[in-house]
Amino acid sequence: MPDAKPRLTVIDTDPGIDDAVGILLALASPEFSIAGMTTVAGNIGIETTTRNAGRLLAFAGQEGIPVFRGAAAPLSRPGPEPLNLHGEDGIGGVNLPEPSRQPESRTAVQWLADLLLHEPAGTVDIFALGPLTNIAKLILDRPDAARRIGRIIAMGGVIREAGNVGPRSEFNLWADPEAADVVVSSGLSLVLVPLDVTRRVRATRDFAEALRAPAKPLASMVADLVESYFETKTHQESRPLHDPCVMLFALAPELFRLKDLRLSVNTGPAEEAGALTIEESGTSVQVALGVDGPAALELLARKLTAV
Ligand code: RIB
Ligand code: CA
Repeated sequence: MPDAKPRLTVIDTDPGIDDAVGILLALASPEFSIAGMTTVAGNIGIETTTRNAGRLLAFAGQEGIPVFRGAAAPLSRPGPEPLNLHGEDGIGGVNLPEPSRQPESRTAVQWLADLLLHEPAGTVDIFALGPLTNIAKLILDRPDAARRIGRIIAMGGVIREAGNVGPRSEFNLWADPEAADVVVSSGLSLVLVPLDVTRRVRATRDFAEALRAPAKPLASMVADLVESYFETKTHQESRPLHDPCVMLFALAPELFRLKDLRLSVNTGPAEEAGALTIEESGTSVQVALGVDGPAALELLARKLTAV
Protein backbone atom coordinates (compact mmCIF):
# COMPACT_ATOMS: atom_id res chain seq x y z
CA MET A 1 0.00 0.00 0.00
CA PRO A 2 1.49 3.41 -0.88
CA ASP A 3 2.74 5.35 2.16
CA ALA A 4 -0.08 7.29 3.79
CA LYS A 5 0.05 11.10 3.49
CA PRO A 6 2.08 12.64 6.36
CA ARG A 7 -0.23 13.60 9.23
CA LEU A 8 -0.37 17.37 9.95
CA THR A 9 0.82 17.63 13.55
CA VAL A 10 1.44 20.28 16.20
CA ILE A 11 3.86 19.62 19.06
CA ASP A 12 2.93 21.39 22.31
CA THR A 13 5.93 21.15 24.57
CA ASP A 14 8.01 22.25 27.58
CA PRO A 15 11.50 21.10 26.46
CA GLY A 16 12.78 19.39 28.65
CA ILE A 17 15.20 16.54 27.93
CA ASP A 18 12.55 13.93 27.22
CA ASP A 19 10.53 16.43 25.17
CA ALA A 20 13.67 16.98 23.09
CA VAL A 21 14.00 13.25 22.38
CA GLY A 22 10.36 13.15 21.28
CA ILE A 23 10.76 16.25 19.11
CA LEU A 24 13.82 14.80 17.35
CA LEU A 25 11.94 11.52 16.83
CA ALA A 26 9.05 13.43 15.26
CA LEU A 27 11.43 15.37 13.00
CA ALA A 28 13.00 12.08 11.90
CA SER A 29 9.63 10.53 11.04
CA PRO A 30 8.18 11.23 7.57
CA GLU A 31 4.82 10.03 8.90
CA PHE A 32 4.42 13.49 10.49
CA SER A 33 4.26 16.90 8.84
CA ILE A 34 5.07 19.21 11.78
CA ALA A 35 3.04 22.39 11.19
CA GLY A 36 4.61 24.14 14.17
CA MET A 37 5.57 23.90 17.80
CA THR A 38 3.76 25.67 20.63
CA THR A 39 5.59 26.10 23.91
CA VAL A 40 4.41 26.09 27.50
CA ALA A 41 6.08 26.64 30.86
CA GLY A 42 6.56 23.43 32.78
CA ASN A 43 9.95 21.76 33.16
CA ILE A 44 11.37 25.27 33.10
CA GLY A 45 10.10 28.81 32.32
CA ILE A 46 8.46 29.83 29.05
CA GLU A 47 11.42 31.81 27.70
CA THR A 48 13.68 28.77 28.11
CA THR A 49 11.21 26.22 26.75
CA THR A 50 10.63 28.50 23.75
CA ARG A 51 14.38 28.99 23.21
CA ASN A 52 14.94 25.22 23.48
CA ALA A 53 12.27 24.52 20.88
CA GLY A 54 14.05 26.89 18.51
CA ARG A 55 17.45 25.38 19.31
CA LEU A 56 16.22 21.87 18.48
CA LEU A 57 14.81 23.02 15.14
CA ALA A 58 18.04 24.87 14.30
CA PHE A 59 20.04 21.75 15.16
CA ALA A 60 17.83 19.55 12.98
CA GLY A 61 17.96 22.01 10.08
CA GLN A 62 14.21 22.49 10.35
CA GLU A 63 14.11 26.25 10.64
CA GLY A 64 11.04 26.25 8.38
CA ILE A 65 8.95 24.98 11.29
CA PRO A 66 7.61 27.96 13.30
CA VAL A 67 7.58 28.23 17.09
CA PHE A 68 4.76 30.01 18.94
CA ARG A 69 5.14 31.07 22.56
CA GLY A 70 2.35 29.81 24.81
CA ALA A 71 1.38 29.99 28.45
CA ALA A 72 3.92 31.27 30.96
CA ALA A 73 1.79 30.03 33.87
CA PRO A 74 -1.09 27.66 34.58
CA LEU A 75 -4.71 28.75 34.12
CA SER A 76 -5.26 29.68 37.75
CA ARG A 77 -2.45 28.44 39.97
CA PRO A 78 1.16 29.53 40.54
CA GLY A 79 3.47 27.74 38.12
CA PRO A 80 5.78 24.92 39.24
CA GLU A 81 9.37 25.62 40.24
CA PRO A 82 11.83 24.70 37.42
CA LEU A 83 12.84 21.05 37.62
CA ASN A 84 16.60 20.61 38.04
CA LEU A 85 16.06 17.20 36.46
CA HIS A 86 16.50 18.93 33.08
CA GLY A 87 19.55 21.03 34.01
CA GLU A 88 19.94 24.80 34.22
CA ASP A 89 19.22 25.30 30.49
CA GLY A 90 16.25 22.92 30.65
CA ILE A 91 17.82 20.54 28.15
CA GLY A 92 20.67 18.87 29.99
CA GLY A 93 23.40 21.24 28.80
CA VAL A 94 23.76 19.42 25.48
CA ASN A 95 25.50 21.21 22.63
CA LEU A 96 22.69 22.79 20.61
CA PRO A 97 22.92 25.92 18.43
CA GLU A 98 20.95 29.03 19.27
CA PRO A 99 17.59 29.38 17.49
CA SER A 100 18.04 30.60 13.90
CA ARG A 101 14.68 32.38 13.98
CA GLN A 102 12.65 34.14 16.63
CA PRO A 103 9.32 32.83 17.88
CA GLU A 104 6.39 34.07 15.78
CA SER A 105 4.37 37.10 16.82
CA ARG A 106 1.08 35.24 17.22
CA THR A 107 0.54 33.45 20.51
CA ALA A 108 0.23 29.68 20.62
CA VAL A 109 -3.56 29.83 20.96
CA GLN A 110 -3.98 32.44 18.20
CA TRP A 111 -1.96 30.34 15.77
CA LEU A 112 -3.60 27.04 16.78
CA ALA A 113 -7.04 28.56 16.15
CA ASP A 114 -5.96 29.98 12.77
CA LEU A 115 -4.43 26.65 11.74
CA LEU A 116 -7.45 24.58 12.80
CA LEU A 117 -9.88 26.89 10.96
CA HIS A 118 -7.68 26.85 7.85
CA GLU A 119 -7.21 23.08 7.60
CA PRO A 120 -10.06 20.61 6.97
CA ALA A 121 -11.69 19.54 10.24
CA GLY A 122 -10.11 16.51 11.82
CA THR A 123 -6.84 16.71 9.89
CA VAL A 124 -4.61 18.29 12.59
CA ASP A 125 -3.31 16.25 15.53
CA ILE A 126 -1.67 17.66 18.66
CA PHE A 127 1.16 15.90 20.52
CA ALA A 128 1.01 17.33 24.07
CA LEU A 129 4.24 16.87 25.99
CA GLY A 130 3.81 19.32 28.89
CA PRO A 131 1.16 20.95 31.06
CA LEU A 132 -2.09 21.27 29.06
CA THR A 133 -2.54 25.03 29.55
CA ASN A 134 -2.36 26.01 25.85
CA ILE A 135 -4.84 23.37 24.77
CA ALA A 136 -7.21 24.21 27.60
CA LYS A 137 -7.09 27.90 26.63
CA LEU A 138 -7.87 26.95 23.03
CA ILE A 139 -10.87 24.90 24.17
CA LEU A 140 -12.13 27.68 26.45
CA ASP A 141 -11.43 30.70 24.22
CA ARG A 142 -11.84 29.20 20.73
CA PRO A 143 -14.21 26.22 20.90
CA ASP A 144 -15.02 26.80 17.22
CA ALA A 145 -11.43 25.87 16.40
CA ALA A 146 -10.81 23.31 19.15
CA ARG A 147 -13.66 21.10 17.95
CA ARG A 148 -11.78 20.70 14.64
CA ILE A 149 -8.79 18.98 16.30
CA GLY A 150 -8.24 15.50 14.89
CA ARG A 151 -6.70 13.83 17.94
CA ILE A 152 -4.75 14.88 21.02
CA ILE A 153 -2.11 12.42 22.18
CA ALA A 154 -0.88 13.60 25.58
CA MET A 155 1.82 12.33 27.91
CA GLY A 156 0.29 12.69 31.36
CA GLY A 157 -1.30 11.19 34.40
CA VAL A 158 -0.86 7.91 36.22
CA ILE A 159 -3.48 5.21 36.67
CA ARG A 160 -2.29 2.28 38.77
CA GLU A 161 1.19 3.31 39.89
CA ALA A 162 2.56 6.02 42.16
CA GLY A 163 2.82 9.54 40.79
CA ASN A 164 6.09 11.40 40.23
CA VAL A 165 4.97 14.52 42.10
CA GLY A 166 2.30 13.43 44.59
CA PRO A 167 1.18 9.91 45.59
CA ARG A 168 -1.20 9.81 42.59
CA SER A 169 -0.23 12.86 40.55
CA GLU A 170 2.03 13.14 37.53
CA PHE A 171 3.90 16.34 36.72
CA ASN A 172 2.08 17.50 33.53
CA LEU A 173 -1.39 17.15 35.03
CA TRP A 174 -0.25 18.32 38.50
CA ALA A 175 1.35 21.49 37.05
CA ASP A 176 -2.02 22.70 35.73
CA PRO A 177 -4.87 20.50 36.98
CA GLU A 178 -7.56 22.97 35.89
CA ALA A 179 -6.21 22.78 32.33
CA ALA A 180 -6.08 18.98 32.52
CA ASP A 181 -9.71 18.97 33.71
CA VAL A 182 -10.77 21.15 30.74
CA VAL A 183 -9.00 18.90 28.24
CA VAL A 184 -10.09 15.56 29.74
CA SER A 185 -13.73 16.67 30.15
CA SER A 186 -13.87 18.32 26.70
CA GLY A 187 -14.88 15.08 25.00
CA LEU A 188 -12.29 15.71 22.27
CA SER A 189 -10.51 12.66 20.85
CA LEU A 190 -7.82 12.17 23.50
CA VAL A 191 -5.24 9.43 24.00
CA LEU A 192 -3.49 9.64 27.36
CA VAL A 193 -0.03 8.05 27.72
CA PRO A 194 0.52 7.83 31.49
CA LEU A 195 3.50 6.99 33.68
CA ASP A 196 2.24 3.39 33.87
CA VAL A 197 3.46 3.04 30.28
CA THR A 198 6.25 5.61 29.93
CA ARG A 199 8.18 4.10 32.83
CA ARG A 200 8.49 0.94 30.72
CA VAL A 201 10.27 2.65 27.86
CA ARG A 202 13.65 3.13 29.52
CA ALA A 203 16.93 4.25 28.02
CA THR A 204 20.15 2.78 29.39
CA ARG A 205 23.70 3.96 28.87
CA ASP A 206 24.14 1.02 26.48
CA PHE A 207 21.13 2.23 24.50
CA ALA A 208 22.76 5.65 24.24
CA GLU A 209 26.03 4.11 23.10
CA ALA A 210 24.26 2.03 20.43
CA LEU A 211 22.57 5.20 19.16
CA ARG A 212 25.96 6.89 18.85
CA ALA A 213 27.57 4.09 16.85
CA PRO A 214 26.13 4.91 13.39
CA ALA A 215 27.33 8.54 13.79
CA LYS A 216 24.01 9.96 12.61
CA PRO A 217 23.35 13.51 13.86
CA LEU A 218 19.90 13.15 15.43
CA ALA A 219 20.72 9.76 16.96
CA SER A 220 23.99 11.10 18.39
CA MET A 221 22.17 14.12 19.84
CA VAL A 222 19.62 11.82 21.49
CA ALA A 223 22.53 9.83 22.93
CA ASP A 224 23.84 13.10 24.40
CA LEU A 225 20.38 13.91 25.77
CA VAL A 226 19.99 10.48 27.37
CA GLU A 227 23.44 10.72 28.93
CA SER A 228 22.64 14.18 30.27
CA TYR A 229 19.54 12.62 31.84
CA PHE A 230 21.88 10.39 33.86
CA GLU A 231 23.88 13.39 35.04
CA THR A 232 20.82 15.15 36.47
CA LYS A 233 19.52 12.11 38.30
CA THR A 234 22.34 9.94 39.60
CA HIS A 235 22.38 6.29 40.74
CA GLN A 236 19.99 5.30 37.97
CA GLU A 237 20.51 2.33 35.66
CA SER A 238 18.01 3.69 33.14
CA ARG A 239 15.86 6.74 32.50
CA PRO A 240 12.19 6.71 31.42
CA LEU A 241 11.48 8.27 28.02
CA HIS A 242 8.12 9.80 28.92
CA ASP A 243 7.38 12.21 26.07
CA PRO A 244 8.78 10.14 23.15
CA CYS A 245 6.04 7.60 23.97
CA VAL A 246 3.54 10.06 22.44
CA MET A 247 5.29 9.90 19.05
CA LEU A 248 5.95 6.17 19.41
CA PHE A 249 2.24 5.58 19.98
CA ALA A 250 1.37 7.65 16.90
CA LEU A 251 3.92 5.68 14.85
CA ALA A 252 3.09 2.20 16.13
CA PRO A 253 -0.12 1.99 18.18
CA GLU A 254 0.10 -1.81 17.95
CA LEU A 255 2.98 -1.67 20.45
CA PHE A 256 0.60 -0.25 23.06
CA ARG A 257 -2.46 -1.62 24.84
CA LEU A 258 -5.29 0.93 25.01
CA LYS A 259 -8.29 0.90 27.32
CA ASP A 260 -11.28 3.25 27.40
CA LEU A 261 -11.55 4.70 30.91
CA ARG A 262 -14.02 7.25 32.31
CA LEU A 263 -11.71 9.74 34.01
CA SER A 264 -12.04 12.74 36.29
CA VAL A 265 -9.17 15.08 37.20
CA ASN A 266 -8.63 16.16 40.80
CA THR A 267 -8.46 19.97 41.00
CA GLY A 268 -8.13 20.02 44.76
CA PRO A 269 -5.26 21.09 46.98
CA ALA A 270 -1.60 20.65 46.19
CA GLU A 271 -0.61 17.05 46.71
CA GLU A 272 -3.61 15.37 45.03
CA ALA A 273 -3.90 17.99 42.28
CA GLY A 274 -3.94 16.38 38.85
CA ALA A 275 -4.67 12.91 40.18
CA LEU A 276 -6.96 10.85 37.95
CA THR A 277 -10.02 8.99 39.22
CA ILE A 278 -11.83 6.31 37.24
CA GLU A 279 -15.55 6.87 37.84
CA GLU A 280 -18.86 6.60 35.98
CA SER A 281 -19.29 10.39 36.02
CA GLY A 282 -15.88 10.80 34.35
CA THR A 283 -15.26 11.43 30.63
CA SER A 284 -14.31 8.59 28.31
CA VAL A 285 -10.61 8.77 27.37
CA GLN A 286 -8.41 6.23 25.58
CA VAL A 287 -5.58 5.40 27.97
CA ALA A 288 -2.43 3.44 27.14
CA LEU A 289 -2.02 0.87 29.89
CA GLY A 290 0.58 -1.42 28.34
CA VAL A 291 3.54 -1.21 25.99
CA ASP A 292 6.15 -3.48 24.42
CA GLY A 293 9.04 -1.45 25.83
CA PRO A 294 11.90 -3.13 23.94
CA ALA A 295 10.04 -2.87 20.63
CA ALA A 296 9.30 0.81 21.31
CA LEU A 297 12.98 1.50 21.99
CA GLU A 298 13.95 -0.39 18.84
CA LEU A 299 11.53 1.74 16.81
CA LEU A 300 13.00 4.91 18.36
CA ALA A 301 16.53 3.82 17.43
CA ARG A 302 15.48 2.77 13.93
CA LYS A 303 13.85 6.12 13.18
CA LEU A 304 16.71 8.20 14.57
CA THR A 305 19.42 6.28 12.74
CA ALA A 306 17.56 6.35 9.42
CA VAL A 307 18.20 10.10 8.87
O1 RIB B 1 5.86 13.46 34.17
C1 RIB B 1 6.65 13.50 33.00
C2 RIB B 1 6.39 14.74 32.23
O2 RIB B 1 6.77 15.88 33.01
C3 RIB B 1 7.22 14.84 30.94
O3 RIB B 1 6.48 15.52 29.97
C4 RIB B 1 8.42 15.64 31.36
O4 RIB B 1 8.98 16.38 30.26
C5 RIB B 1 7.80 16.60 32.34
O5 RIB B 1 7.24 17.67 31.60
CA1 CA C 1 7.48 17.46 28.86
